[in-house]
Amino acid sequence: MATLIVNGQERRYDGDPDMPLLWYLRDEAGLTGTKFGCGQALCGACTVHVDGVATFACVTPLSAVEGAKVTTIEGLSPDGGHPVQAAWRNLNVSQCGYCQAGQIMQAAALLAGTPDPTDEQIDSAMTGNLCRCGTYPRIRAAIKQAARGGRRAEGGQP
Ligand code: FES
Ligand code: FES
Repeated sequence: MATLIVNGQERRYDGDPDMPLLWYLRDEAGLTGTKFGCGQALCGACTVHVDGVATFACVTPLSAVEGAKVTTIEGLSPDGGHPVQAAWRNLNVSQCGYCQAGQIMQAAALLAGTPDPTDEQIDSAMTGNLCRCGTYPRIRAAIKQAARGGRRAEGGQP
């Protein structure tokens, strides 16, 4: 039995505790916004938050998230209005879109801990999230825009 909180809702699962969290989210919970890319912690398409930390769900067994709070792209904000999501839309970051849920979740975790990241901090945080379409310049610009938006919301200088 695994018990976890997914997007604010408590869930129990009686199946294999070694099953990857990604399988659980997509096939059991029906949260298909989180994508399968490589299954080997090599691409970042499956990035979710576990207790606020960006985590590759494909290599995280359910037993490792017992009692944890898991947030997927569906739960990042109630209306898609998270500053990272808003910046992504403003700058039309997505191309094919496949990697983008993972990119957004990684970026949101970065800004939660580092509200005003340097280029180096952005590159370091995002290095495990690959994009076959090469949207990296727009991803970096959107993270900076989201950081500026966050500062404005707190009453700081844009
Ligand atoms: S699917 Fe998890 S890192 Fe690629
Ligand atoms: S937008 Fe296509 S893989 Fe990233």
